Amino acid sequence: MWTHIPIMAREIAQLLLVNPQGTYMDGTLGLGGHTKYFLSQLGAQARIFGFDKDPHALEMARERVNDARLTACHAGYTHAPEVLASYHVTQLDGALFDLGLSSYQLDDPTRGFSILREGPLDMRFDTTQTTSAADIVNTWPLSELERIFREYGEERRAAQAAHAVVTARRTAQVTTTTQLKQLLEPVLGPQRGRIHPATQIFQALRIACNRELENVEQIAGVIDQLLKPGARAAVLTFHSLEDRMIKNHFKALAAKGTWKLVNKHTLTPSYEEVRQNSRARSAKLRVIERL
Ligand SMILES: C[S@@+](CC[C@H](N)C(=O)[O-])C[C@H]1O[C@@H](n2cnc3c(N)ncnc32)[C@H](O)[C@@H]1O
Repeated sequence: MWTHIPIMAREIAQLLLVNPQGTYMDGTLGLGGHTKYFLSQLGAQARIFGFDKDPHALEMARERVNDARLTACHAGYTHAPEVLASYHVTQLDGALFDLGLSSYQLDDPTRGFSILREGPLDMRFDTTQTTSAADIVNTWPLSELERIFREYGEERRAAQAAHAVVTARRTAQVTTTTQLKQLLEPVLGPQRGRIHPATQIFQALRIACNRELENVEQIAGVIDQLLKPGARAAVLTFHSLEDRMIKNHFKALAAKGTWKLVNKHTLTPSYEEVRQNSRARSAKLRVIERL
């Protein structure tokens, strides 16, 4: 069975659940770990609207949470205002965004997210979307590949990696995780430690395939539209690009005078949590409140 351990669930619940009978959105429902815990802390009249692009995750979340107070919606969180309006909900008491991918998606080889597992080079959160990571690898121009490897992967050898991809695809389409890993090894080196040298390239492709930064860019607008006075939004990020964006967007909201930062610096998981769940190690939490 697939698992995903929700990160900083207790700390987030304490900071976010300001109204026990309130209406909340979980912008990234995943397997429903945070939502299930939140519902255990909320009253009978509370509601959570859970959004996810991944229809398989949504199905599992519905089953695991198994609570009539949850409405699970197959939609990106950027579409929350329209989706919520269709349920006659225009204001929320809080919102959570737990960015990136879940352990379930990483661990399932058929999804193609993991450099350590042989699988199709897919990486789509939304399996109904047409563009996959393989489409990017096989069709995007050299300059665009180099850009995403540099910007989204923060890869020093982005130009060499992009060249290796373009050279390899002249001979045969790159369709699997192993093919991509192997063609990059002459440029980036073979696996030595725990982390494969091409991990950042995989990250870059995942971010591009799912337009992750374009979505993160819209979080501030979504919460500005939906949160009522006193309501809070919490964002968990897992790499510096996302964290920088959230930091700047939250600062800009606070500068309007209608929002205040709940924590000036990022909050991070406890030593004990990281010891029990190594995937928590890079998590950073920022919380903001509407005045
Ligand atoms: C880190 S997981 C969330 C895990 C969840 N908090 C839990 O405890 O089970 C992130 C989830 O967000 C989803 N996702 C990524 N981008 C999204 C977007 N723009 N809109 C909605 N869901 C998104 C992914 O498909 C994934 O299931």
